Amino acid sequence: MARIIGGIGTTHVPAIGSAIAKGLQNDSYWKPFFDGFHHIHKWLDRERPDIVVAFSNDHGLNFFLDKLPTFAIGAAAEYGSEDEGWGIPVSHAAKGIPDLSWHIINAAVGDEFDITMCQEMLIDHALTIPLSLMWPGDSGWPVRIVPIGINTVQHPLPSVKRCLELGRSVGRAIDSFPGDAKVLILGTGGLSHQLDGERAGFINKDFDKLCMDKLVTDPDALTRYSIRDVVEQAGSQGVELLNWVAMRGALTGTVTEGHRNYHIPISNTAAATMLFENNAAAARKAA
Ligand code: DHB
Ligand code: FE
Repeated sequence: MARIIGGIGTTHVPAIGSAIAKGLQNDSYWKPFFDGFHHIHKWLDRERPDIVVAFSNDHGLNFFLDKLPTFAIGAAAEYGSEDEGWGIPVSHAAKGIPDLSWHIINAAVGDEFDITMCQEMLIDHALTIPLSLMWPGDSGWPVRIVPIGINTVQHPLPSVKRCLELGRSVGRAIDSFPGDAKVLILGTGGLSHQLDGERAGFINKDFDKLCMDKLVTDPDALTRYSIRDVVEQAGSQGVELLNWVAMRGALTGTVTEGHRNYHIPISNTAAATMLFENNAAAARKAA
């Protein structure tokens, strides 16, 4: 059966794409952020995942305010990208793995999640930036992906509890996927940030720290926050925390913190990068 080796949470700010294109990784503004990936690179080099199952939010490339699925799962053989208007180079495509996509869709619908299934899907900065941070350079990303979109844009948003449960459903599905693929779970965006309105530029270090700690030891503790609470504590775009929560839910084994980097600011965000190692043997024993 497939094995979930761990999870990575990371910001997905588009400006990172221009910093990469301009080679600014050692520039004083960017260095504290990019340095946070050295440990991740060593870990990825050692663990060599075959597949990335990625929770992120679409920012208008697939869905807009007129039609916005709460949960959308990609089931394509390839995911291209397009110009989103951020002035960053258009990314190359990512390879899909439709068998696993359909396995996850079947399991999630079986668990009573109403999924929008997407046999065509584009990937935006919320996926292309994290993948490029994890596997820098021009040789492409050495993984196949299953993109899972969570609505963090058009209210009403799914609750923290619902996203944690979706993650758990996805994790169980991966655990029962035939073969011996190594699977990495990704959750992107956050942490606290607000791009517009009276509180534009809002950051909340204390809440971010609490979320990072609880994601390791007790993710259920975060379900006490309503979406209104999360908007208040993390900012209107800080609700991208939901992607991190779903990622954590998919780690079905025993979870330990492998690495953490937290740096303010990267563009308008408190930029966090975290590695969660998953001892999958524990999940197998429980099953
Ligand atoms: C920024 C942050 C985001 O999450 C995003 O999707 C776009 C831009 C920013 O801080 O610039
Ligand atoms: Fe975003």
